[in-house]
Amino acid sequence: MVTNAGPQRHLVLIGMMGAGKSTIGQLAANNLGMDFNDIDDMIVRRERQSIPDIIGERGEQSFRMLERDMVALVTDREPSVISCGGGTPMDPVSRHLLRTNGVVVWLDVSLDQLVARVGDGANRPLLQSGAPIAETLDGLLTKRRPMYGAAAHHRIASPDGSIAHMLADVLQAYRLGPTPPTSASPPA
Ligand code: S3P
Repeated sequence: MVTNAGPQRHLVLIGMMGAGKSTIGQLAANNLGMDFNDIDDMIVRRERQSIPDIIGERGEQSFRMLERDMVALVTDREPSVISCGGGTPMDPVSRHLLRTNGVVVWLDVSLDQLVARVGDGANRPLLQSGAPIAETLDGLLTKRRPMYGAAAHHRIASPDGSIAHMLADVLQAYRLGPTPPTSASPPA
């Protein structure tokens, strides 16, 4: 049974590209009997354009504003499971909305696992700079860790990258609700 403040809130998954947010989010939604909302998919449906085209034509900052719109829309609805894009929590307004309306769980997957999971980075325009993907991911991760920490109520590390273990930890974190941040997730 879900206890504490969790049920009134969304379950929000954040973390880098390749962390498993969409896969685990869908499984968590099935488990909890809640709707699943993927911010990237919502943007693609509304804009009728792919993420690479949106970022390529309008730039990353415009994309962050689309994410902000979607976060505002979805956090205003019935509690659901929300899978964010890797950069969604970089925007302060999105971060605030997610944190105040959700139990925010950071899937903190190791660089090695991220590299293995994103492959050649197809469909991920931020990985198409021409630099080695591991290097790009490492740079993004370094820049983003403080923001993920500021957004998250819970951080889940996955030494073995097992989806089943992470799913169990995510469900447990949701049950705990928006507990005060730990040292791994400093206040916003
Ligand atoms: C991005 C991550 C992508 C997508 C876009 C930008 C990022 O989502 O939102 O390509 O800035 O990290 P996933 O994390 O689902 O790959």
